[in-house]
Amino acid sequence: MNPICEEQYDITFRNIFDTPYVQTLREWRNQDFVRKNMTNHAVITPEEHEEYMRGLEHSSTNKVFLAFYRGEPLAVITMKYNPEENYMEPGMYIINEKFLGKGFGIVMSYVRLEYIFTCLPEGRMRTLILEKNQTNRNLQEKMGCVLTERIMVQAQNGEEEPACVYYLTRQAWENNKAAIEERIAQNYDLARIGRIPV
Ligand SMILES: CC(C)(COP(=O)(O)OP(=O)(O)OC[C@H]1O[C@@H](n2cnc3c(N)ncnc32)[C@H](O)[C@@H]1OP(=O)(O)O)[C@@H](O)C(=O)NCCC(=O)NCCS
Repeated sequence: MNPICEEQYDITFRNIFDTPYVQTLREWRNQDFVRKNMTNHAVITPEEHEEYMRGLEHSSTNKVFLAFYRGEPLAVITMKYNPEENYMEPGMYIINEKFLGKGFGIVMSYVRLEYIFTCLPEGRMRTLILEKNQTNRNLQEKMGCVLTERIMVQAQNGEEEPACVYYLTRQAWENNKAAIEERIAQNYDLARIGRIPV
């Protein structure tokens, strides 16, 4: 890491394996306000986390990034590529409740779309959101995502609940991007927002 480059930005992104937070990731993911919005609500055990991280280290399709705000861990962004259908399925969560509702969700959604369409110029973004997660549904609809299907998803304990499948094409994103940049600029200086390493 070059400290001079880092200082250019208020918000930066690193692969989780390039941070000292590989173990802390499990604690962040296990917070109630995070896991209640995930398909799998269960508390992740240390063993499950270890297995997940081992799989991630060798994966060509799955990646996890950590966002920092002025050097402090801010949010987790996950990426899962589906080569058959050429879409990327991202996930995200803010890792400290003090950062909620401050416009960081829009920033994370913006940066992850820039990453996805850099990696997949001809691909799409797909996202699955629990029906009850109105905050994230509002947010993704604002980004231009189109609701295409309602499905039932099953947690590890067998419980089912309704969820919404959204897609976004690059064209739709290009059409919507300027409005999102304007919204972000109300809170943050766009020039000081870094990018996810490709
Ligand atoms: C979803 C999440 C990332 C949103 O981040 P955030 O920083 O709180 O959201 P922002 O402040 O950027 O708000 C972005 C938009 O979300 C929507 N939103 C935010 N708070 C909301 C609320 N309480 N109710 C309804 N919509 C809300 C609005 O559309 C808002 O845009 P606006 O301010 O222009 O109206 C965050 O709430 C989170 O991490 N939640 C827990 C984990 C999670 O749900 N992850 C997604 C799993 S699919």
